Amino acid sequence: MKNTPQIQVPPTMKASVYREFGGPEVLRYEDIPTPEPTAGEALVKVLAVAIDYIQLHIRHGGSGRIGSSDEAHYGIKDPPHIPGGMACVEVVGLGPNTEGVEIGTRHLVGGLRPGSYVEYGIVDATGLQPRPDGRPSPTAYPSSFTPEQAAAFDYAPVAYHTLKVAAGLQTGETVLIHAAAGGTGVLAVQLAKHFGAQVIATAGSEAKLQLVQELGADVAINYRTDDFVSTVLEATDGRGVNVVWESIGGEVFTRNLDCMAEGARMVSFGSNSFTGMGQVDFWPFWMKNLKLIGWGGVSNTQSRSPEIMEELIDLAQVGKLRPVVRHVYRFASASEAHRLIEERGSIGKVVLTP
Ligand SMILES: NC(=O)c1ccc[n+]([C@@H]2O[C@H](COP(=O)([O-])OP(=O)(O)OC[C@H]3O[C@@H](n4cnc5c(N)ncnc54)[C@H](OP(=O)(O)O)[C@@H]3O)[C@@H](O)[C@H]2O)c1
Repeated sequence: MKNTPQIQVPPTMKASVYREFGGPEVLRYEDIPTPEPTAGEALVKVLAVAIDYIQLHIRHGGSGRIGSSDEAHYGIKDPPHIPGGMACVEVVGLGPNTEGVEIGTRHLVGGLRPGSYVEYGIVDATGLQPRPDGRPSPTAYPSSFTPEQAAAFDYAPVAYHTLKVAAGLQTGETVLIHAAAGGTGVLAVQLAKHFGAQVIATAGSEAKLQLVQELGADVAINYRTDDFVSTVLEATDGRGVNVVWESIGGEVFTRNLDCMAEGARMVSFGSNSFTGMGQVDFWPFWMKNLKLIGWGGVSNTQSRSPEIMEELIDLAQVGKLRPVVRHVYRFASASEAHRLIEERGSIGKVVLTP
């Protein structure tokens, strides 16, 4: 039986699609059929999408796994593709067996089908049901936020969990945050300060450094003009940092080892340089008893626990945690938005709207 969405939607919709792997220019704005929800599914209207760095890897034909387009590992199939990414959406239609989900409610969701850069998408309805105990669900966000802010806020659980749970950042410790003016970095700086840590931040321009200082960074390093390792050692009286928040990979990953304190932890959750660990010298690992912690997959799900969501939403409601959104593009200009990020020009999260 065909399901009719409760709010009238057009039979076709606009989407950003690429039909071959490549640079930002492969993204095209096209008409595709509007999907219909079946049992257990909701049809949602996309209000805003935060561009996820991993989508740049995938668009280039990689899976995020260095030097690989390993389909078996990440399920990356040949194009056509509509990029994914976390989206702020409104429920506009429901298939059968979707009790508890209400038309008109707004959520933050991942895993939209056929992708996120679309006007309407399908999502499993179970994730949209309110929690029976009234606490925030994994799809919740601060009610005062615009859809663009909400999409950017979605990276707050990532920042929280990588710092607090994975790396175990403690009050009084020092943390080195790379890409601190990035979409996730701006949230990490604010949360690290909230946890009572001393924050040393790196970024690649004066405008970015100014922002991270405004957000509370104690030391801000322009890694293009200053050597970050020697500046960190200087700022910590030669001791080094207790935690490194690492999403760059390559040479940066390797050099971090030289400015980590005895027993320090490095949490690795991305590779913006599109490269692996470089030539790693194990000596600092042994001599300083360093720990390397990988983060992703199931940790990403765990980072949306009611306790963490509650704390993050409370912090946002009182103005102590704010996402930074300075670049908003239409889906039709998705290639420009991808190019801005790839050329390291973005500050905060880059958000797309239909
Ligand atoms: N593991 C997971 O499940 C998971 C989930 C969410 C996000 N992530 C990761 O979290 C990281 C942050 O994501 P985001 O979307 O917020 O990105 P982002 O931090 O906004 O990324 C862009 C910034 O990275 C910095 N960067 C430093 N070195 C770079 C290089 N060699 N090449 C390109 N950029 C470089 C640039 O800023 P500067 O020039 O100022 O340094 C650039 O503006 C990404 O690695 C993403 O994959 C992982």
